[in-house]
Amino acid sequence: MRELEKQMQHVCVVGLNWGDEGKGKIVDVLASDADAVVRYQGGANAGHTVYIGEVRHVLHHLPMGVLHEGILAVLGNGMVLEPAKLLEEVESLPEEAVSRIRISDRAHVVLPHHAAVEKLREQSAAHPIGTTLRGIGPAYQDKFGRDGIRMGDIMTPGFIEDVLPGKLRERTQRLGIPGEGIDEAIQICNRLKERLESQVTDTRQLLHKLHQQGKKLLFEGAQGCMLDIDFGTYPFVTSSSPSFLGLGPGTGFSPRKIDHVVGVTKAYCTRVGEGPFPSEIHGEEAEALREAGGEFGTTTGRPRRVGWLDIPALRFAVELNDLDSFALTKADVLDGWETIPVVTAYRLDGEELGQFPDSLTDLEGLEPVIEQWPGWSQVDEVSMRPFIDRLMQATGIPVSILSTGRRRDEVCVFEPFRAEGELA
Ligand code: IMP
Repeated sequence: MRELEKQMQHVCVVGLNWGDEGKGKIVDVLASDADAVVRYQGGANAGHTVYIGEVRHVLHHLPMGVLHEGILAVLGNGMVLEPAKLLEEVESLPEEAVSRIRISDRAHVVLPHHAAVEKLREQSAAHPIGTTLRGIGPAYQDKFGRDGIRMGDIMTPGFIEDVLPGKLRERTQRLGIPGEGIDEAIQICNRLKERLESQVTDTRQLLHKLHQQGKKLLFEGAQGCMLDIDFGTYPFVTSSSPSFLGLGPGTGFSPRKIDHVVGVTKAYCTRVGEGPFPSEIHGEEAEALREAGGEFGTTTGRPRRVGWLDIPALRFAVELNDLDSFALTKADVLDGWETIPVVTAYRLDGEELGQFPDSLTDLEGLEPVIEQWPGWSQVDEVSMRPFIDRLMQATGIPVSILSTGRRRDEVCVFEPFRAEGELA
């Protein structure tokens, strides 16, 4: 185990599984100590639901920090932003919160034709990915094809009137959907410019300045590292780098400056969409776990596939994210279970594997090896200690945050986020 520093300036929170680990709640807990919360990849495929008092807020682009007074909410250059959704989120916030949003002029825009072409592809694919249909993949394709439209373009005088229509005509023609969504795109880009122009800036420079001023930055990864375009279960992945490794290109901020990486995992696993999921369970057992955990997508409402905590997958995520500690969420869903099934290895062609395989073919043939770990009567530090110790033995990584329920205040915080002797 690594020595944990007490003095931390910058922290990154990432999802360790296939998304929906409850990162929003963990970011919310840590945000009270931050000066800015920064998203660095993905877009409206992500979703958090948070309650402030009785008001329900659904955030797709904006990091949780936007709900904390005095904190900057930064949308980094690695994101792809869907104007209509972003404006919807902005309109649900008080003006004071909107004034704290900063948007990278290098972030790309997702326009209606992106979603339209994605829908056609998913419908006609032999093996659909089960995407969120928000146009994320096609928007990143345009970015890496050096053909994208950036926030800075939209804010440039004359771009929407003089350049955008031609670009969209040519683009939709090439995609085989001529004219699709052009009027809608122009209208929404105009609204975006009107409402958020003063928020669009060079966020790379901003983050660098904040660092030099000694301000604390909290980076919020969306999705989970098993959906990483390079290291996830390709091709059943998203089109960005949700792991810690995506932070550098997604912000222009050096990952060497990050003091602590917290990885969020539930006490069990879920996945939405298609693709390998070695610890998946089915039938009544799965149904009961899905209901108990409320495992239905925030963005699409789809029922999530469910399975047991997967140690080989976690070991892979620990390495990939250079992880310092775990935040364990949704343990309350398993309250009162005498033992907790955990996948500790896989069997492949009669051989036991402790590592998550790289190849999709191997992943499909895996048989999970399940151990029963000690359960807990209620979620607290004492009842959960045997389980937490076992997790640390299996991965070498301590638990720094334990979420004990849905509410903001239902949380136990350990070192290094709590000084020794201080109560959570
Ligand atoms: P896309 O990101 O919409 O292209 O979808 C690609 C895959 O990532 C699909 O399996 C989606 O279900 C999954 N995915 C994308 N965003 C999230 C998320 O925020 N939580 C969970 N799964 C996600």
